[in-house]
Amino acid sequence: MMEVAKENVRQEAHLLIFPAPLQGHINAMLPLADALSFAGSLRVSFLNTEHNHRLLSSRFSLRLNLRFLSIPDGLSDDKPRSAYQLTELFQSLRTHSVDSFRALLLAGGNKDPDGWPPVTCIIVDGLMSYFMDEAQALGIPALVFRTISASSLWVYLQIPQMIEAGELPFPADADLDEHIKSVPAMEGFLRRRDLPSMCRKATKADDKELQLFSNFASSGTRSKGLIFNTSDALEAPILSQIDSLFPTTYAVGPLHALVESITSSFVSASLLAEDRSALNWLDAQPYRSVVYVSFGSLARLTQEEFLEFWHGFVNSGHRFLWVVRPDLVAEGTAAVEMAGLEERVRLVAWAPQEEVLRHRAVGCFITHSGWNSTLESAAAGVPMVCWPWAWDQLVNSRLVGEVWKVGLDMKDVCKREMVESMVRAAMEGEKAEELRRRATEMAVEIGRSVGEGGAARLNFERLLRDILSLSL
Ligand code: UDX
Repeated sequence: MMEVAKENVRQEAHLLIFPAPLQGHINAMLPLADALSFAGSLRVSFLNTEHNHRLLSSRFSLRLNLRFLSIPDGLSDDKPRSAYQLTELFQSLRTHSVDSFRALLLAGGNKDPDGWPPVTCIIVDGLMSYFMDEAQALGIPALVFRTISASSLWVYLQIPQMIEAGELPFPADADLDEHIKSVPAMEGFLRRRDLPSMCRKATKADDKELQLFSNFASSGTRSKGLIFNTSDALEAPILSQIDSLFPTTYAVGPLHALVESITSSFVSASLLAEDRSALNWLDAQPYRSVVYVSFGSLARLTQEEFLEFWHGFVNSGHRFLWVVRPDLVAEGTAAVEMAGLEERVRLVAWAPQEEVLRHRAVGCFITHSGWNSTLESAAAGVPMVCWPWAWDQLVNSRLVGEVWKVGLDMKDVCKREMVESMVRAAMEGEKAEELRRRATEMAVEIGRSVGEGGAARLNFERLLRDILSLSL
């Protein structure tokens, strides 16, 4: 019998994908898992924390080559995992989950519950680079996935340069409309006002949060490659800047659109139950007549802000569908007087957002400018009114308002008169027409990019090939 040299035997490729345990991160990374497993040449394990796995697993229909695994996050079951507990959650993961993660990487074959081969490559969320270090210490190649825009990552990467140039930190009474000069390719539009929220809060150069986000950004340099949920159709100039720092990058987004283009279906990974009656309500509304409002999964409003938005929407006279999550209003209630408004107002706890944004009845989107929401709106050709709440969202809203010109940036203002006039500008008259025209053009570009032969699709195919060769 001929003996085959061990180095010539190709082991079966098994990719493990691990998002941070947050809605916006799972939503970005699950479509990638789905698209990669659909190709058929590798198996994909999608790893969640046990807490999220319990919330999600009943809603998935599995593909042959895609399965879901879980490890504990170290927090007790009754502990809330909301915006105010993020530091605790990430510290707990780092302290309590690394051992289970390592055990999972060492399993395979007889030791694997499904008899799957050992993990040959991982894709890990850029917020949790310690898992990348763990895999690489075991000789398993790792790629890093960033859920934020390339532009936001670029700003985070430039924090040391902004400090060196004396542009960061700046005094509390500084003119927020002044432009930042030390961030290449953004001099024309980036103002102090548009910097990620921790830049505005920092009072000294060694501010802990500044350093933390700067370190998150550069951690990808230790990986085999950096994956972005964006494409040249959206951020070409910034992607080429980033290419000069990271030798291997893959701009494969928007992934929710890419997966649909490849598989003709789309995945939903909501941690909260979707209220699908929102779609029935939309079915009964006229073409482009509804303002859709959602502030994502983490943002919280004060009671005063909530009421300013409410009155602004009501006073605009337009129909609106608003996602009022149970924890949307911090320290207050979301109680409102609905009498007389039942016909034109619908409040839901959680909506099937992708489907809502694609609905013919939706005319514009009031958003907190989370990157997933921004991509979903852009891919659907829906103009946005942006009210960024924190972090990267402040950069995203500037892209929407000033670079892409597919929306209006209402950053830093939350007064009912302003809300009303923004809604009117996005829904009525010439300005609204112009926004709609540009948004439609952008959606067409995105469709081309994720379709066969498009830039994002080609990058996805290169990513798949590289994962297979890293798995050898
Ligand atoms: C956060 C950051 O804000 C974001 O910029 C980062 O890239 C990921 O983490 P989040 O604030 O939740 O995420 O916003 P976003 O990125 O927009 O993600 C929210 C997701 O929840 C979207 O995919 C959206 O479709 C979904 N969603 C929201 C629903 O499915 N239903 C809803 O009712 C509201």
